[in-house]
Amino acid sequence: MGNVLIVGDFHGNTSHALAMVQVAVRENCARMFAVGDFGAWEHMPSGRRYFDVVNRAAKKAGVTVYFLDGNHDKSSLLHEMYDERRDEEGFLVCRKFVRYAPRGHRWMWEGTRFAAFGGARSTDKGWRLAREARKEEQAARRRGYGSSRRPMTAGTLWFPEEEMTDEELDALLIADSSPVDVLLTHDKPRATEPKFNRKDRPECFPNQDRIQLVVQTLQPGLHFHGHLHYRYTETIACGDGRWTRVEGLGADPEASSHPGYRAEQSWTVLQLPCATAELAESRAG
Ligand SMILES: [Fe+2]
Ligand SMILES: [Fe+2]
Repeated sequence: MGNVLIVGDFHGNTSHALAMVQVAVRENCARMFAVGDFGAWEHMPSGRRYFDVVNRAAKKAGVTVYFLDGNHDKSSLLHEMYDERRDEEGFLVCRKFVRYAPRGHRWMWEGTRFAAFGGARSTDKGWRLAREARKEEQAARRRGYGSSRRPMTAGTLWFPEEEMTDEELDALLIADSSPVDVLLTHDKPRATEPKFNRKDRPECFPNQDRIQLVVQTLQPGLHFHGHLHYRYTETIACGDGRWTRVEGLGADPEASSHPGYRAEQSWTVLQLPCATAELAESRAG
């Protein structure tokens, strides 16, 4: 089954998603894993179409697309719709070729142990809530004029479940605190210091601290994340003299405003099986 293409945020950008499916084919990857802000917006017709289009392209290419939830994915709806529809590895089957890894999910590919922890804090939460409120007002006015159109309001632009809570994380780590080789998250761990960091804000720190706790508990040799929309590599200590190589991935072109962006910064190939045990014990450059 071979390699996995790890990809950064898509934000429901269909042309970018389709381009990445082609990169997966070119790079010999039968699996693609998106580290959040994938575009799970099935409360909107356009979101359902996006899933359908990605599913069709993935099927044609022979690639299965996996994703974890970012702050801009409506994960509550994924659970509502697909909790009962799981594959043999425990992923939620949203479409046959589009599958969701819920928070705390663990699995093994080619003898490599993986875990996924979605969620992050939206820095534009205020703007999103204000916009929802404006839409609600407009919908109320339309209803006053006799329209039967249902309002697209609370929970359509900002999702209350976006961050992990301390209780949620504690329960996941109590359920299983055993080590993994590869950790996949949306948010960054608190300890990394990338040059470009649009999430270096106090309101983002609690969830980054949670991810840091995950790193120190599971002690992965490799950790991939998205959310910053910026490609960087940094090695951090994860306790007991062990090290984690953190790979932050870029996003789709429309969400990437920093200078020097190239589409290749939004993906990387993970070769399986990967010998991360050695990596974790010796500090990489
Ligand atoms: Fe994003
Ligand atoms: Fe994000």
